[in-house]
Amino acid sequence: MASTMRVPPLPLHHRHYLLLHLPLLVTAAVLALGGAQAGKVPAIYVFGDSTADVGNNNYLQRSNAKANFPHNGIDFPFSRPTGRFSNGYNGIDFLAIHMGFRRSPPSFLSLTNKTNHQIFKGLKGVNFASGGSGILDSTGSTITMTKQIQYFSTLRSNIMTQIATEPTYHLLSKSIFLISSGGNDIFAYFTKNNSPNTTEKDQFVATLASQYENHLKALFTLGARKFGLVDVPPIGCCPYPRSLNPTGGCLDILNELSLGFNKAVHSLMLNLSSTLEGMKYSVGSSYEVVSGIIRNPEALGYKEIKTACCGAGKFNGQSGCTPNATYCSERHHYLFWDLLHPTHATSKLAGSAIYYGSQQFASPINFRQLVEDEN
Ligand SMILES: *[C@@H]1O[C@H](CO)[C@@H](O)[C@H](O)[C@H]1NC(C)=O
Ligand SMILES: *[C@@H]1O[C@H](CO)[C@@H](O)[C@H](O)[C@H]1NC(C)=O
Ligand SMILES: *[C@@H]1O[C@H](CO)[C@@H](O)[C@H](O)[C@H]1NC(C)=O
Ligand SMILES: *[C@@H]1O[C@H](CO)[C@@H](O)[C@H](O)[C@H]1NC(C)=O
Repeated sequence: MASTMRVPPLPLHHRHYLLLHLPLLVTAAVLALGGAQAGKVPAIYVFGDSTADVGNNNYLQRSNAKANFPHNGIDFPFSRPTGRFSNGYNGIDFLAIHMGFRRSPPSFLSLTNKTNHQIFKGLKGVNFASGGSGILDSTGSTITMTKQIQYFSTLRSNIMTQIATEPTYHLLSKSIFLISSGGNDIFAYFTKNNSPNTTEKDQFVATLASQYENHLKALFTLGARKFGLVDVPPIGCCPYPRSLNPTGGCLDILNELSLGFNKAVHSLMLNLSSTLEGMKYSVGSSYEVVSGIIRNPEALGYKEIKTACCGAGKFNGQSGCTPNATYCSERHHYLFWDLLHPTHATSKLAGSAIYYGSQQFASPINFRQLVEDEN
């Protein structure tokens, strides 16, 4: 922990670096969101799976959980495929925008010594998420959450050598730690056991929650205090599971496991925050957002909630959004972008609901309250 080089805390104006360089479009979007200001928090650190990944997997040689090719990114600025599993932004981007940033912080593996200094040092936040990963180390073959936290730990040590201890403490304790994971663990479990009985379901959910707890404790030990968790959506209603169901309906067992896990997360956070002093949290419910859209699509501007915009086969859910796949033109009318992931439009809705919404969408407080909490 000893810091060899002590420099004074960051001058305040550096915090506004990002806003000064925003393209007009994004500035307008920020203003339209009710006068959001830059730098509501010092930094955002992101962990999780493809719902949060902004390009870490681009750097993995072997992974097939990648999205850095068309038609992904078709609605991203300059139609750039970045590695996001979306036609545009993902939910983390919108949450970051609400917090006054341009979008998600960059992916950890994209950082080089040519990156803007503040960002390179991790002072504005970093995104460690990796598509295909889960809460359990056994899930997927990409960057596990354990590894993501190790990366953060390394970055944190580097930060400590750059700035004095006191500001580092505040940097981390006032920053938001966003985590979106769990869906892949449920898919992996389902692949091994597609009709678990009650005992087995409870056991699996308890194992998953307990491992989640370990990750959260590790982050707390490393200085994280404000946790913004995104729960697991009704993954049984994604185009891929629907394509497996002869009736074309949602795969109920997947939704049941998601609900069970989400419930366990609330209980776990209530427990953790009462024992770990200074821990603050909000659990945002992508489950509520997506099931709300499925219940009432027209009212929310959707025309298609079963078939993916981009893909192939039944519900466009039998293969991924590759360059040779077909894709829809009215993307904002689709709930799903590809076999497993929401569209930019859906992520935008989820971002607003989780940031500003009622307890149905984020509890015990919403992300805005988490960000604005001064204690
Ligand atoms: C950046 O890193 C590369 C490779 O590690 C090195 O060759 C180069 O000199 C570095 N550039 C600067 C400006 O530090
Ligand atoms: C659930 O399944 C497991 C493994 O097949 C079995 O050992 C157990 O008895 C079952 N429990 C109930 C309540 O059916
Ligand atoms: C939370 O604490 C209660 C009471 O100690 C316990 O029964 C419950 O299992 C805990 N929940 C989790 C998810 O750890
Ligand atoms: C696109 O190409 C890939 C590999 O080249 C293949 O596996 C996939 O089935 C193709 N998809 C479509 C929709 O033709």
